[in-house]
Amino acid sequence: MRKTLTVSAAILALSLTACIIDASAPQHAAADSIPNQRIETTSLSSPSGDLSLNLNAHNGQLVWRADWRGDEIISPSALGLVFKTGQDLSTNLSITSVTTNSVDQTWEQPWGERRLVRDHHNELAVEIAHEDGSPALTFRARIYDDGLGFRYEVPDTGNREITDELTEFRIDPAAKTWWIPAAGWNRYEELYHETELQAAPRAHTPITLELPDEGPFLSIHEAALTDYAGMWLNQRRAGTLEAELAPWSDGTKVKVSGAFKTPWRTLQVSDTAAGLANSDLILNLNEPNVLGDVSWAEPSKYIGIWWCMHINECTWGSGETHGATTERTKAYIDFAAEHGFDGVLVEGWNFGWDGDWFSNGEIFSFTKAYSDFDIEALATYAKERGVYLIGHHETSGAITNYEEQMADAYALYESLGIPAIKTGYVADGGEITRRDADGKVYKEWHDGQYAVNHHLRALQLAAKHKISINAHEPVKDTGLRRTYPNAFSREGARGQEYNAWGQPPNDPTHTTILPFTRMLSGPMDFTPGIFDLSFGKPATEDPRVQTTLAKQLALYVLLHSPIQMAADLPRNYEAHPEAFEFIKQVPVDWNESIMLDGYPGAFAVMARKDRNSETWYIGAVSDEESREIEIPLSFLEGDAYTGKVYADGDGADWRTNPYPLDISTKSVTGDDTLSLKLAPGGGTAIALTPVK
Ligand code: NOJ
Ligand code: CA
Repeated sequence: MRKTLTVSAAILALSLTACIIDASAPQHAAADSIPNQRIETTSLSSPSGDLSLNLNAHNGQLVWRADWRGDEIISPSALGLVFKTGQDLSTNLSITSVTTNSVDQTWEQPWGERRLVRDHHNELAVEIAHEDGSPALTFRARIYDDGLGFRYEVPDTGNREITDELTEFRIDPAAKTWWIPAAGWNRYEELYHETELQAAPRAHTPITLELPDEGPFLSIHEAALTDYAGMWLNQRRAGTLEAELAPWSDGTKVKVSGAFKTPWRTLQVSDTAAGLANSDLILNLNEPNVLGDVSWAEPSKYIGIWWCMHINECTWGSGETHGATTERTKAYIDFAAEHGFDGVLVEGWNFGWDGDWFSNGEIFSFTKAYSDFDIEALATYAKERGVYLIGHHETSGAITNYEEQMADAYALYESLGIPAIKTGYVADGGEITRRDADGKVYKEWHDGQYAVNHHLRALQLAAKHKISINAHEPVKDTGLRRTYPNAFSREGARGQEYNAWGQPPNDPTHTTILPFTRMLSGPMDFTPGIFDLSFGKPATEDPRVQTTLAKQLALYVLLHSPIQMAADLPRNYEAHPEAFEFIKQVPVDWNESIMLDGYPGAFAVMARKDRNSETWYIGAVSDEESREIEIPLSFLEGDAYTGKVYADGDGADWRTNPYPLDISTKSVTGDDTLSLKLAPGGGTAIALTPVK
């Protein structure tokens, strides 16, 4: 249903959405007879009416506001764009027409957290003009019951440079906030802060907030970030989060040519923290799949020559300690084949790792293997054993060097039957290397427009070779996997590797916060599954993984990634065969996902149904506290199931005794409530199979 209101129609249709605040205007007059007639304000609600957005153009400036069940949750907040040259989109603006539309449709994901995604929203398209009446922009908003998004759609005004985006989110400064700092050296790989909003000077998105006096919970992020700079949130005045676009090295924010659309600026709203995790807002705001048949982008579980480098048992560099040898890779392939894994990642296989690889970006080769790594023979051997190699491209942030080789590198991998590549951009924030045709080097941000465009070029080229990408040190996820389903996974948060280095390791709260923050943006290659929690040292000696063994299992259900790693060394899985069974069994692709309960920094309980069977899985994790949680199984819809429960055993505690694992079998139905006891730093993993 589409409704268009011109200025004149709006005068007669106040009840729809637009309202005129020009008392002098006769309400029956046609717009063209009232040159100064303006629509000053317009609002639209979500389908249920719970959430609404209001746009105001008073005094020529655009301001938005959001209400949740009648309460203001975003106070009047600025909008606009400022350019280096030409007319800005910030002052002397007026609304000339308002169009609304309603959509209720369901679409299917090739893989993901759920197969069917409902897109149910009301849309507002507001035409905005400059003072002289020429079109300035379309402000488009989509309002869902669990959130909203809006974007600026700007007509062609030639090649221009955006120097500032004025979008604000004004929120109660006392809101409890879970955030990581933006614009720092460590990209997105930080432990989360839990503070009042006003203590977050500059934050990445997604950022999660709980408004004072029992909520609701909010998450601010962006969707469909293409050909634009990533948005940081800068708070100079308490409670006012301003969009700050990650700049180019020359200080400009975004270079545009012709007509353009900004990413969607998004706000999720829910009474509960779990509700945030159950929203499909970000995916819904992205464009449908443009790659066509993506049956080649198959979710997979993998092992890899990886942890061995992180715990200093082998090296990326060549020589005696080289990890990526033909012999070791063969052993990993055998192990993968024996235990049903799809892939074997091998890092350090290619020329360039010797010395300080952090600084080797310009010398990495993505086609030349070290002499002790016979890539052709290994690809053939893997194929014979029913597995495949997973490629690895560490760029050390030297994007130009990578782009110069990407076509050859992807063609090589395609010829070897390698369907997925883990890429890496290890460089401090702001230290991505861009080299011009004349050889001059510039330093860019991981989330600036240059890197954003690079990641899309990589996805598009990889798709031509039927290759999927798992990017580390990436730009944040904004849901592009809907449009490019070979955008499998990424890091973009503090992963398991920090537990090996211990600087500092992830504390027990970390994985109870991720599901309500980072994971709202999309899949993460966290690399769970460490079984030798202190890497050969006594169990209580640091550095170590600050979880129980059971919690490592629960992470497979909690932290979705369509390419999911079993991160530990084969010998450590052989030492815990019963626990290993769960990793072997747990799927990586889901028919449905429901965050059942949780609170950031305390606990999280996720239920997911396998995409290819009737089995449900539950993953529950706790912070450093032990806790008992009750899980109503009503999502099982009354049917009878056999549950295999992997719980913290007697005396389990991440600090003193992380290994006790209690594996039991339980008969349950959807009418039951499960009581789980989680140890300090503990968790529970459950597989629920229907009784035939
Ligand atoms: C950092 C990545 O997160 C890690 O997984 C990888 O092993 C190293 N870079 C080397 O590429
Ligand atoms: Ca990393």
